[in-house]
Amino acid sequence: MPDTNLPGGRLPEIEDIGSNPAPRDTIGELVQRRLSRRAALRGLVGAAATATLTDQLLTSANTAAAQNAAAQDAAGPQGTGPLRNGPSSLTFAELPHQLKPQDAVAPGYEMQTVIRWGDPVLPSAPAFDPARQTAAAQAMQFGYNNDYVDFIPLPQGSKNATHGLLAVNHEYTDPQLMFDGLGASEDSRLKTSREQAMIEIAAHGMSIVEIRKENGRWAPVADSRLNRRVTGETPMRISGPAAGHDRMKTSADLEGRQALGTFNNCAGGNTPWGTVITCEENFNQYFGGAAAETGSQAAMYKRYGIAKQASYHWADFIDRFNLDKEPNEPNRFGWVVEYDPYDPQSVPVKRTALGRFKHEGCTHAIAPDGRVVFYSGDDERFDYVYKFVTARAWNPNDRAANRDLLDDGTLYVARFEEDGKMRWLPLVHGQEPLTAANGFNSQAEVLIETRRAADLLKATPMDRPEDVQANPVNGRVYAMLTNNTRRKAEQVDKINPRANNVHGHVIEMIPPGAGTERVDHAALEGTWEIFLIAGKPGTDAGAQYHQSLSAEGWLSCPDNCTFDSKGRIWISTDGAPGTSKVADGLYAADTDGEGRALTKLFYQAPTGAEVCGPCLTPDDETMFLAIQHPGDDKDSSFDTPSTRWPDFKDGMPPRPAIIAITKTGGGKIGA
Ligand code: FEO
Ligand code: CA
Ligand code: CA
Ligand code: CA
Repeated sequence: MPDTNLPGGRLPEIEDIGSNPAPRDTIGELVQRRLSRRAALRGLVGAAATATLTDQLLTSANTAAAQNAAAQDAAGPQGTGPLRNGPSSLTFAELPHQLKPQDAVAPGYEMQTVIRWGDPVLPSAPAFDPARQTAAAQAMQFGYNNDYVDFIPLPQGSKNATHGLLAVNHEYTDPQLMFDGLGASEDSRLKTSREQAMIEIAAHGMSIVEIRKENGRWAPVADSRLNRRVTGETPMRISGPAAGHDRMKTSADLEGRQALGTFNNCAGGNTPWGTVITCEENFNQYFGGAAAETGSQAAMYKRYGIAKQASYHWADFIDRFNLDKEPNEPNRFGWVVEYDPYDPQSVPVKRTALGRFKHEGCTHAIAPDGRVVFYSGDDERFDYVYKFVTARAWNPNDRAANRDLLDDGTLYVARFEEDGKMRWLPLVHGQEPLTAANGFNSQAEVLIETRRAADLLKATPMDRPEDVQANPVNGRVYAMLTNNTRRKAEQVDKINPRANNVHGHVIEMIPPGAGTERVDHAALEGTWEIFLIAGKPGTDAGAQYHQSLSAEGWLSCPDNCTFDSKGRIWISTDGAPGTSKVADGLYAADTDGEGRALTKLFYQAPTGAEVCGPCLTPDDETMFLAIQHPGDDKDSSFDTPSTRWPDFKDGMPPRPAIIAITKTGGGKIGA
């Protein structure tokens, strides 16, 4: 989702209203926290001392970074190169920051387009003709606004890096760039015709596409029997504790066990048994009706940002999006969905045990006892970081035995303490305060109103958690906190240390055993540190990176991330154009050693686009990126777009697309 909160973001701020009614602690707790901080400053041992030391290191790094940036600014426009980043293990020469209709990658690397909006996915798909698009054609073609990307090697279970399935999410639609004649107005979503709305619904969901690399070029396998489109109308099974609950029932599904489609699939993840997880994020914006303010579920709607006026036009054409006709339909969204990419006939499953919120992504790590842990962020201002721990260990020898592992386990929400420690609080019905006295009569109700349950547990309100992902090398779990311009000075804490946090930050959660062979991702306690605080050092107060950061290495609004086989982090951004006149991009940094938190710009997106889904092949030789909403700039429309990336052909609008980046002549990305 583009960061509509920022100046220059073109759509009205609808999907991200910050609905947590009590995002801060009581005055008593604030006083308590200040006292703890003073205790830490007096030099307590352990995590408290670590937190204080971290403060000091970050402060000095910030000062040095500001001096460094000032020196480089004084030196004038940048010639960039690896010598500027001595301590970094990343060997590429970083790009300069710039904002252009074309994208760019570091010297010595090549980009190719793998698949674009409208390209055929199913063999019977017609050629793309944006002036004559139909819903039937769209349902067979690659969808809009690609976000999560997974590369799943073929054959199943192999580490093949030249042949596999590309599993891609299609998060949402931009009708002003998809359809002729809507203009660039901010309310284009409310101007679509019924047929256009049906095209939009078909452009949501996922694409699964077999791809192959031959002679250095990636291409889809056109007639693959594995190719699949999932849309907003694909039947899905609802499973887990909330399945069958009265609040999950609609007139089309009297049992509350069968949903139609999936929407706003942002990031995702996968499982050790080879299924893909896709996350329903800003599902609220498709639903509308007077019941948002007057219905029996009005308080719940409000907490999830569901308003009287939907941001899309669909409720005017299709009853299930109208709260006054189907008040429970939105309860069937906001879940994670698991699907089997190897079986195009399989029915995707909404796994309610993992909670209902605006899931950005959902990535896994394996605890020493074989239980599987799934980390997920709720991307809203002042919302929370969660993890789910399966009740049972997974079975590496029997794929079928893992089929319903995600239906049974415990969901936890994170509380970060000021002394550098953190705790995972269980969302379990019957444990105080999640009882009937607070309106929770079952685990189903805890899960349907996950946000309210987490509020009562006093989880820590964060600056919009996007990707949360474990580094397989150092065992630390990284959370991208994209931004939060509504955090006031009196709401600042150590884990969200900046008021008016325009640029966001990245934190590390450190489970017991991190850095060893036995990282206990299932543990209920751990510690935390701040990895970086985004923005431009010397300009943006509080920006903190490695002290050798170059003038080009700073970033804004971290969103998705991945790790290469050396444990280095690759961070993609969403939101930079509105704030800084630089494009979004992909940045890389070491996470350990002398180059820790020294970010370098590797890829620069075309204007208007955010970068999603960084995904490496198992050999680290291809980096797939999802380039989402190219041309989504103010005053940009189908007729007069700010870019025609990637085709640059008259009459062809910009097209969200998956690109592959490889090293010229072959080799590992970042080396
Ligand atoms: Fe869809 Fe949180 O970005
Ligand atoms: Ca997105
Ligand atoms: Ca985002
Ligand atoms: Ca995102």
